[in-house]
Amino acid sequence: MADLAADFYAHPSAVLDAGCRVGAGSRIWHFCHLAAGAVLGENCSLGQNVFVADGVTLGRNVKVQNNVSLYSGVVCEDDVFLGPSVVFTNVKNPRSAVPRRGAGHYQPTYLERGVSIGANATLVCGVHLGRYALVGAGSVVTGDVPAFALMYGNPARQHGWVSTHGHRLAFDAAGLATCPESGAAYELSATKKSVTAVNEALIVSNSNS
Ligand SMILES: CC(C)(COP(=O)(O)OP(=O)(O)OC[C@H]1O[C@@H](n2cnc3c(N)ncnc32)[C@H](O)[C@@H]1OP(=O)(O)O)[C@@H](O)C(=O)NCCC(=O)NCCS
Repeated sequence: MADLAADFYAHPSAVLDAGCRVGAGSRIWHFCHLAAGAVLGENCSLGQNVFVADGVTLGRNVKVQNNVSLYSGVVCEDDVFLGPSVVFTNVKNPRSAVPRRGAGHYQPTYLERGVSIGANATLVCGVHLGRYALVGAGSVVTGDVPAFALMYGNPARQHGWVSTHGHRLAFDAAGLATCPESGAAYELSATKKSVTAVNEALIVSNSNS
C-alpha cells in the first residue's frame, strides 16, 4: 500500500504506486502517475497527465499544471508553480546505447520556495533556482538563477527582478523598490547581483500555514 494520508483526492484514473506519499489536502487529477518514493506535501495540486518519479520531493502547496514529468533529482520547495508542459531533464549527455540509469547518473534540479516556471519552459539539469525566481514561457534555463530574478529567453537571461507576488521591481537610486500589489519593500545589493525582501517573513504566507 502507498503511504497515503486519508484526506486527499486522486481521480480514479491516477496511478499511485506503493510507497509514494501524498500530503493531506492534495488533489491529483486525471492520468497522473506517482512512482514509489515520490513525496508530495500538503495541499499540492497535480493537473492532468503529471508524472512524479521515485525520489522527487514536492513541498507544500506546489501547483503543477497539465503534462509535466518530474524526473528523479527534482526538488520543489513550498509554493512552487510549474506551468503547463514544463520540461525537466536529469541527464545532461544522454545516449540511447549507453545506459545512464540510477541515482548516480542523475543531476539534481532544485527549486526554492515560491519559484514559478512559465508554460513550456525547459530546465537543463544541474540548476538551482533561488526563491521566488520567475521563468518566462518557453525559456530554456541553463544555469543557476538568483532569488527574485526574472528570467526569459533561450538561453534564459535575467531581465530584472520580481516580487513574491510576481511583479517587476523598479529600484530607485537608493536601491529600494516596492511591490505594487503587496506594498512590500525590496532592497538591491550594492553589487546589484542580489535582492532581499525587507521583512519577507511578514509578506509571504503559505496557504497551508
Ligand atoms: C516573462 C514574463 C513574466 C514577462 O512579462 P512582462 O514583464 O509583462 O514582459 P513584457 O510582456 O512587457 O515583455 C517585455 C519583453 O520581453 C519579451 N518577452 C516576454 N516574455 C517572454 C518570454 N517568455 N520569452 C521571450 N521573450 C519574452 C517581450 O517580447 C518583450 O520584448 P520587447 O521589449 O522586445 O518587445 C511573461 O511574458 C511570461 O512569460 N509569463 C509566464 C506566463 C506563463 O507561462 N504562465 C503559466 C500559467 S498559465
